[in-house]
Amino acid sequence: MKRVQSYTAPGIRVTFDPNVCIHSAVCLKSLPAVFDVRRRRWVQPEAASEAEVAAAIDRCPSGALKYVLAGRAEPTTEQPGGESKATIRTSTNGPLLVEGAFELLDESGSRIVSIGRAALCRCGATAKQPFCDGSHQRVGFRSKKSPAA
Ligand code: SF4
Ligand code: FES
Repeated sequence: MKRVQSYTAPGIRVTFDPNVCIHSAVCLKSLPAVFDVRRRRWVQPEAASEAEVAAAIDRCPSGALKYVLAGRAEPTTEQPGGESKATIRTSTNGPLLVEGAFELLDESGSRIVSIGRAALCRCGATAKQPFCDGSHQRVGFRSKKSPAA
């Protein structure tokens, strides 16, 4: 497992978990001043407003990027009242996108991760099971249209 990276600027702290990134490049396209892999310190949250950084990270499909605004509590998957709700969405020719309050457990029932967002492999080619690592593009995975409920 690679270590989780942390990048702090006044008013915001950004973390990046390389173990679950699916290399969609959404962050790079959304806010290139902040996210640029050609730089050694590839996340520079001070290069945009906190709101812009937060909005770009909210578009990260895998949950690899997260943020905490100064003075706010750490994000939690607990819903008010203890209610648990998550959605799982198929993506065209790509992973299953999970969002909401959920826990991902391994075969023995141990918790792998408990976060608000994850991209799970459904092509079988990932090297980071159960997470998508972007390999679906390399192998040319083609999804079938899901039947309507
Ligand atoms: S999964 Fe998130 S962190 Fe990884 S490239 Fe896409 S937007 Fe960036
Ligand atoms: S769906 Fe992305 S690597 Fe399998």
